[in-house]
Amino acid sequence: MDFEEKGKQLYQLIDQERIPYHVAIIMDGNGRWARKRGLPRIAGHRAGIDSLRETIRIAREIGVKILTLYTFSTENWKRPKSEVKFLMKLPEEYLQKEIEELCANNVKIRVLGLIKELPENTRRALEDAIKRTKGNEGMVVNFAMNYGGRGDIVRAVKKISQLLLRDDIKEGEIDEEIISQYLYTKGCPDPDLLIRPSGELRISNFLLWQIAYTELWFTDIYWPDFKKTHFLQAVYDFQRRNRKFGGIKG
Ligand code: IPE
Ligand code: IPE
Ligand code: MG
Repeated sequence: MDFEEKGKQLYQLIDQERIPYHVAIIMDGNGRWARKRGLPRIAGHRAGIDSLRETIRIAREIGVKILTLYTFSTENWKRPKSEVKFLMKLPEEYLQKEIEELCANNVKIRVLGLIKELPENTRRALEDAIKRTKGNEGMVVNFAMNYGGRGDIVRAVKKISQLLLRDDIKEGEIDEEIISQYLYTKGCPDPDLLIRPSGELRISNFLLWQIAYTELWFTDIYWPDFKKTHFLQAVYDFQRRNRKFGGIKG
């Protein structure tokens, strides 16, 4: 069976009643994809946009409600200046091309991460997209941009400390619910499914707190080769997992 056929078959097999509500993706492998083709790394980042478009479309189509995409980590600043510069330009380029379709598909854009530290143009492009899509209710797309899971928790601890110092909260009131409310993902239920392409079997400082009981799905495919059939395969596999949350059966 060819790849397209497999996608169609998976589409039929997926249980519409058990679509993961929140899917998170570590969009990895762009550099290796480019190297394999003798291209500069940035060609891989650009090619990744096609996978992003296809993934948002299929997620929306099957009824995923939240898609959280790791776009740039707080550790990615360590990369060569020229690559960082390109990665900072990419959201502008992407949004310019895609904002119409995102709006037509009723997608709401949000950004998780330290947006203030981004270059002015990047920040403005993201803020414009947030503003333009604010009223959309079909699906939320969270771009984790200048995001780190540990930094997310540190920020929440600082905010809660301020509440304590001002006597706005008592120590005994601090619970998991309150901590979740001070994370960038405020208001989003935890991811049901986390997808990481590229063959790496790690989390790389993505949503550390939020993935306590998330189902993990890995593939060796590089992100620019990731197509809707892979996404459907991940969802299909997810539906066959027994989520127990520490209990006895799912
Ligand atoms: C993911 O691809 C994109 C970002 C981290 C911004 P990589 O650039 O990490 O690609 P590899 O892992 O080097 O192949
Ligand atoms: C994670 O990928 C960050 C993004 C995909 C944005 P990395 O390529 O930075 O992760 P490591 O360095 O392989 O752990
Ligand atoms: Mg990588």
